[in-house]
Amino acid sequence: MMKRTNSYKGYSLLFISFMLCLAVSSQLTADFYSKTCPTLLSVVRTQVQSAIKTETRMAASLLRLHFHDCFVNGCDASILLDGDNSTEKFALANINSARGFEVVDAIKSAAESTCTGVVSCADILAIAARDSVVLSGGPTWKLLLGRRDGLISNATQANAALPSPFEALDAIIQKFVNVGLDITDVVSLSGGHTIGLAKCSTFNNRLFNFSGTGAPDATMEASMLSDLQSFCPINGDVNKNTVLDRNSTDLFDNHYFKNLLNGKGLLGSDQILYSSDLAISRTKSLVDSYSSNSQLFFNDFANSMIKMGNISPLTGSKGEIRKNCRAVNS
Ligand code: HEM
Ligand SMILES: *[C@@H]1O[C@H](CO)[C@@H](O)[C@H](O)[C@H]1NC(C)=O
Ligand SMILES: *[C@@H]1O[C@H](CO)[C@@H](O)[C@H](O)[C@H]1NC(C)=O
Ligand SMILES: *[C@@H]1O[C@H](CO)[C@@H](O)[C@H](O)[C@H]1NC(C)=O
Ligand SMILES: *[C@@H]1O[C@H](CO)[C@@H](O)[C@H](O)[C@H]1NC(C)=O
Repeated sequence: MMKRTNSYKGYSLLFISFMLCLAVSSQLTADFYSKTCPTLLSVVRTQVQSAIKTETRMAASLLRLHFHDCFVNGCDASILLDGDNSTEKFALANINSARGFEVVDAIKSAAESTCTGVVSCADILAIAARDSVVLSGGPTWKLLLGRRDGLISNATQANAALPSPFEALDAIIQKFVNVGLDITDVVSLSGGHTIGLAKCSTFNNRLFNFSGTGAPDATMEASMLSDLQSFCPINGDVNKNTVLDRNSTDLFDNHYFKNLLNGKGLLGSDQILYSSDLAISRTKSLVDSYSSNSQLFFNDFANSMIKMGNISPLTGSKGEIRKNCRAVNS
């Protein structure tokens, strides 16, 4: 082995860290597929369009898949891997809940027949999420691409990283901070709940005996409360779905924030952005701003999606380009 002086070691460490920083900040690029798959964006768009035409909710489901992918081990398509109950699909937030996997398969197969072996499943999730937002009436943003697919999927990690609708605001903020996101990202990305559905089991804790108080969650508006009490009765079917953004469910807009001002957030984790004690110093003023300024919400949401899509991607020769999004290559 070559013997190096301490200062030489110091300089080379510095140099390596510098190069790593450069690599990290220039990992994903807008033109990643411009040579290898120039038609990719239109291929994905066509598939997403047809899936949403078949089922409007699919836009929401695809947006959520990208979120649940990125928060666990980075945006590496780990959520797509099939396997036993130790895989992410079996994590609490995903089991019997995450959906859209067949649509991702269809997009992947369209991408493979156009450009074989070059398009990652992780990038497909990022593109499909962006298209879903745009096709629902929301903002667009410049996609950064070049993610590669991971080799592991770990339910324990997913259970630790994904926020729960029953958590307090400080705990939710901490989960965003853990992946490099901030409070603005918490509020703007929660605006993703402007589309899609949720099951009774994710909010019925608020309806009858909230936190052992013997009474419903006092921050829920009265008529919505009584509607939901009959929709999700005690001992009823907890897998029934209702809309996250009451009275504006299919349109990607800022109505979700207007609802929060009126006590009409569906999940506990939605309403606490406006009504909890901590909200006053952390999130309430942003909710106010988004509720009255849809352009501000769209701008911030787009920025936050780019940040979320940048969480620990595998690039260069790390990971692989999966042939089948549900399995690692053999
Ligand atoms: C802030 C913490 C968050 C919590 C606690 C949370 C929790 C939930 C829950 C419990 C559901 C209902 C799932 C079900 O009943 O099957 C849901 C649905 C959804 N979430 Fe979130 N979420 C959060 C953040 C986000 C973010 C950051 C996005 C994307 C930007 C997002 C997008 C969605 C969408 C689109 C749906 C509807 C999915 C569908 O209809 O298939 N959520 N979320
Ligand atoms: C996962 O599967 C194993 C083997 O089938 C079983 O022993 C274990 O209880 C399961 N764990 C959960 C959380 O369902
Ligand atoms: C999953 O992640 C947990 C927590 O990081 C770790 O303890 C466990 O060994 C991992 N499981 C597998 C199968 O890698
Ligand atoms: C509400 O829940 C608490 C704690 O679980 C329980 O002690 C109490 O009896 C419940 N109250 C009612 C009215 O059901
Ligand atoms: C809002 O949505 C709820 C639940 O879907 C429905 O019962 C109510 O009639 C709607 N209100 C308006 C004004 O559309």
